[in-house]
Amino acid sequence: MCGIVGYLGGRQATPVLVEGLHRLEYRGYDSAGVAVLDGGEIVVTKTAGRVQDLRDLLVDSPATVGVAHTRWATHGVASDRNAHPHLDAGLRIAVVHNGIIENAEQLRARLQADGVELVSETDTEALAHLIAQQRADSLEDAVRAALRGVEGTYGLVVLDRDRPDELVVARNGSPVVLGVGDGEMFVASDVSALVHHTQRVVFLDDGELATLTATGYRTSTLDARSTSKVPTTVAVAADAYELGGHEDFMRKEMAEQPEAIARALRGRLDERFATAHLGGLALDPMALRAIRRVKFLGCGSAYYAGQMGAVLVEELARVPADAEPASEFRYRNPVVDPDALYVAVSQSGETLDTLAAVQELRRKGGRVIGAVNVVGSAIARECGSGVFLHAGPEVSVASTKALTNMTVSFAMLALLLGRVRDLSAAAGGRIVAGLRGLPGQVERVLADDADIARIAKRYAHARHMFFLGRVRGWPVAREGAQKLKEISYVHAEAYQSAELKHGPLALIDPDMPSVVVVPADDLVAKNIATIEQVKARGGPVIAITNADLPDGLADEVIRVPRGEPELDPILLTIPLQLLAYHTAAALGRDVDRPRNLAKSVTVE
Ligand code: F6R
Repeated sequence: MCGIVGYLGGRQATPVLVEGLHRLEYRGYDSAGVAVLDGGEIVVTKTAGRVQDLRDLLVDSPATVGVAHTRWATHGVASDRNAHPHLDAGLRIAVVHNGIIENAEQLRARLQADGVELVSETDTEALAHLIAQQRADSLEDAVRAALRGVEGTYGLVVLDRDRPDELVVARNGSPVVLGVGDGEMFVASDVSALVHHTQRVVFLDDGELATLTATGYRTSTLDARSTSKVPTTVAVAADAYELGGHEDFMRKEMAEQPEAIARALRGRLDERFATAHLGGLALDPMALRAIRRVKFLGCGSAYYAGQMGAVLVEELARVPADAEPASEFRYRNPVVDPDALYVAVSQSGETLDTLAAVQELRRKGGRVIGAVNVVGSAIARECGSGVFLHAGPEVSVASTKALTNMTVSFAMLALLLGRVRDLSAAAGGRIVAGLRGLPGQVERVLADDADIARIAKRYAHARHMFFLGRVRGWPVAREGAQKLKEISYVHAEAYQSAELKHGPLALIDPDMPSVVVVPADDLVAKNIATIEQVKARGGPVIAITNADLPDGLADEVIRVPRGEPELDPILLTIPLQLLAYHTAAALGRDVDRPRNLAKSVTVE
């Protein structure tokens, strides 16, 4: 989704801004632009296309202050004119903006009635004109006054031709982070654009503004109360955002899964009491026992991970559990159960629908914790307690290692909830040992890469694919279908195996391959029957399994190691990542930047 970079200091601004934009490319965008203050004028360069296209247009400039943006079109098509930064009519104010201004139409109409000529179709341009119209003593006050009439979400940075020594930043519902350097200040929508320069950052809260100068910053609220923000150090190595010899980030992040799982488990498993320690939950055993229901809320793959979590909680703790897309939950006036534990699941911690679900829950007095990867993110801060995923930065749009660490974290949560109830020490010990064995087992699945690549190539021509599973295998099938469609653009549909005969079986023919997830559980015979039903209609079958299947049953068999059965979904998901990856590669797709998608979805 859109990206913001701003710089103010002693260096040439343009290279810093463009480098920052390159680091934000992974978020997804369709146009890019830069504005710098050069010779007393704001000089804007922008284009529909890639950051590389922008770089080709830029000229060398001594400017030491500027703002830059990658845009993901919302109001108005992707075009040079609609790309940010946007200027006011007097060419004094430049604005870069993430988010959506909901009353943009009214604001634009009012500006036009005032005789302002709008040159783009965007909501953001209205902000530039509004800020320029304010009669205020400072840029900060002008921004504050303009924002009073604005409804919607924004993370924005404002450059004023007449105030070359400052930038003003504001946030409401769309992240902005300040980077504190030595005699220079940075701002970005994502720490990945900052960590090469500084690890000292300040996360703005919703409703907060900041004025930056080269030597520091001050923060305040929209109603002009000053706030006190101390920089925190982000423990992210700058090379976490480098490919480090891998062809792309998805491949790198899949390969990182064994170490990411080990990091998530570190210090959290307790052999002595056969349980897990999740200090961030801030729930004592009495509070854990009082939980009568668990509900996982997330979007996309985070929702499917939540579904895997729900299966784990029901199996290990025998507490009723389910998962729901946060985007549905927030709009359906949910009945909030005071005895339930709600878990907001998010890699980025910035997904707007998930954040809104958390806010709705808190407003209604629900108990909500986060399962979040990005420390300092909006959802992590809104929840206040929870489980950090420790997957490390995830750059590829398709979530892999973060998703795996979500499920690993839910296994620990389920173990903990189980052990304060009736899960025996022996059973708990079995899960602890199973979790400890996971990194090595994932390593073994990843080593099967060449065979999975061969299978992917064989079926890459398919226009449609089914992904089938039941119980533990069902969320795995859903996640497998999601991965395939998002990066390869092959239509993939997940079904519960038993539902096949109630309609979709009609679609099975030799051109419709089915991926069938078969964990080594009590339902192997049922899954064998499903495969036979598909085969009887001429449908090719790829089985993903750690069970013993009759020879020749499926056309292709991808095997994963056998561990503790409850943890099977974690292992069974890995080959599906590889299958999607190699299908996308065989079709020549840009795996890290699938069309129309963004890494972090901060709009509705
Ligand atoms: C799929 C994918 C998306 C995200 C979803 C939620 O590979 O990455 O479906 O899972 O947009 O994002 P987060 O986890 O950041 O809330």
